[in-house]
Amino acid sequence: MFKKLPPSVTAALLQITAVALTLLSVHLFGLHPSPLAFALLCGLLAASLSRLAGLARWWLPIQLLFAPALILMLALHIPPGFFLAAFLILLAVYWSTFRTQVPLYLSSEKVWRALEHLLPSPASGGGAGGEGKPGFRFIDLGSGLGGVLTHLASARSDGRYAGVESAPLPFLWSWLRIKLGGYRNCNVRWGSIWDDDLAQYDVVFAYLSPVPMERLWRKARAEMRPGTVFISSTFAVPEQTPHETVQVDDLHRSTLLVWRM
Ligand SMILES: C[S@@+](CC[C@H](N)C(=O)[O-])C[C@H]1O[C@@H](n2cnc3c(N)ncnc32)[C@H](O)[C@@H]1O
Repeated sequence: MFKKLPPSVTAALLQITAVALTLLSVHLFGLHPSPLAFALLCGLLAASLSRLAGLARWWLPIQLLFAPALILMLALHIPPGFFLAAFLILLAVYWSTFRTQVPLYLSSEKVWRALEHLLPSPASGGGAGGEGKPGFRFIDLGSGLGGVLTHLASARSDGRYAGVESAPLPFLWSWLRIKLGGYRNCNVRWGSIWDDDLAQYDVVFAYLSPVPMERLWRKARAEMRPGTVFISSTFAVPEQTPHETVQVDDLHRSTLLVWRM
């Protein structure tokens, strides 16, 4: 049952189950634990259930410490408005990450520079533009703060650059960055990567997570034109060997995986 749910939803359901079971046990055995002891019992139970449900190991300390941390924070008497504000900011930045399992993290400048070498050469004229028009079209699927787009739009002004981003705050940030920076060959859309038709693009770039790669590959295969280029930063496509890999000497040792469609 849990396999079909996003891990964050499973984790929340297991926390609720742990509280219910702890309440029941306390009642049955006539115990009167302190709030912190009660929370520790909930945490232990939630972590054990999470292990049984097959959640990734890094969830276990979160599950163990969630309820005790809640009790300790309540003891600090922090105004509730603080938590609401923190929640709203996190919501605007991460939006549907609980479902997509693709959070915001940014590719490095070294990745941006490596991408320059994977764009069609200026002489080739690309596939979408035609003579005398911008030579190629590039999209960053999940464009974050727009760093990839604005860098490439400066470095290779003969291309047209598009981004699509679902999280409101990163979208707004990148939209302002593009408008205020005067990048006329660049735009970003608020929406889902699954709604874009990839047939329009000569180069499709994605830096997402392992979770959507299989589905994204199917979409790319179905929509991208022959001769165009699909690049995934870091995350492989199951059972698909890239035609080229570019090792980037950055902090994360990023790898660009390149497929020529
Ligand atoms: C790892 S970040 C990459 C940001 C940027 N491309 C870069 O390289 O710096 C992935 C981004 O994809 C966005 N994202 C995840 N799923 C998405 C979806 N289905 N549609 C649009 N954007 C999505 C996330 O909000 C996040 O900002």
